[in-house]
Amino acid sequence: MDDKGGFPHYMLKEIFDQPQGLRATIEPRVSVEDGLVRLDEVRIIADELCALRRINIVASGTSRHAGMAGQYMIQELVNLPVDVDYASEFEYRNPLIGKHELTIVITQSGETADTTAAQRLARSRGSRTIAISNVVDSTIAREADGVLYTHAGPEISIASTKAFTAQLAMLYLFAVYLGQVRGKLSKEQVRVHTRELLEMPAKVANVLQSAPDCERLARRYNAVQDFLFLGRAIHYPVAMDGALKLKEVSYIHAEGYPTGEAKHGPNALIDETLPVVIIATCDCNDAGSVLRYEKNVANIKSFKQQSGRVMAIASEGDEVVCKLADHTVFVPQASELLSPILEIVPLQLFAYYMAVAKGLDVDRPRNLVKSVTRE
Ligand code: AGP
Repeated sequence: MDDKGGFPHYMLKEIFDQPQGLRATIEPRVSVEDGLVRLDEVRIIADELCALRRINIVASGTSRHAGMAGQYMIQELVNLPVDVDYASEFEYRNPLIGKHELTIVITQSGETADTTAAQRLARSRGSRTIAISNVVDSTIAREADGVLYTHAGPEISIASTKAFTAQLAMLYLFAVYLGQVRGKLSKEQVRVHTRELLEMPAKVANVLQSAPDCERLARRYNAVQDFLFLGRAIHYPVAMDGALKLKEVSYIHAEGYPTGEAKHGPNALIDETLPVVIIATCDCNDAGSVLRYEKNVANIKSFKQQSGRVMAIASEGDEVVCKLADHTVFVPQASELLSPILEIVPLQLFAYYMAVAKGLDVDRPRNLVKSVTRE
């Protein structure tokens, strides 16, 4: 029986599943009333969590992009150093980890060979491990000290979408939980963070209404062979995943880059043949976000002077970016650390419609598998 729920492809169904996956991941674990995040499944005692000196996040592909965003969340909310590694590279750098370093492995399938090996290496060096996985009783989940399950539901399409946003929400929950346990966040601060997190499913549902715009953009840009995706700070991992989505389902070359790095080389590529997709949202309550936004506006102006074409992801109501960019897709206002959950949705939709326009096998792209169980 076809369980695509009336959608033409699993990828589109799973993009539209995201509000539900976020609710199922977030709601059982927060109590706004009590100002608490409850993650009993972490199974590592508070004393150990308080004694941590560093966190290593290890993952592959889209899951690593979630880990990159998690680094900003944890460092900002907990003031604890975080490193992020490709699982396939982890063993090569002789990771100096032990009982004071926690290793978080992120994996939708829970069966990725590189990530399994990385977790085993971490454990062999005395590091406790926590797995963030979307598959109950998966190999990686079974071998971890603690497991934080995302409840995005089965993800069939090879391109990971709903698992990614659920991973972002789970990492935010963990950062707030760690801040709570380590005394960095007061009950009132936890209350504010959890209230904002609980608003995300509805905000994602709002962004999904931009699907027709993204389909129109895919038709307009369909002949393009190369894209540059740009994002600053926590938006850089979003640019990375937007580029990966486009690459893997439409076979179009796309690179994700920190926006500030464009002037160190990629600028040479930007002209009318190579469009730039830039994440230029702004959390007006966050001074750092406002500064980064102003730099993004300056970047868009310079790309336009290079006769570049610019597609921007901007905050609702932003008339400045809308006037400067060739095309703008808006997302609702959200705090800086949560905005990636919204920003990735138009990029998922754009990649999907680009692949459909090219008549490709969206759910089963060539040369790829859903779970890479061999190194
Ligand atoms: C994501 O769209 C890709 N299919 C791929 O990069 C994937 O994220 C990666 O293979 C990791 O898979 P996992 O999350 O199941 O470990």
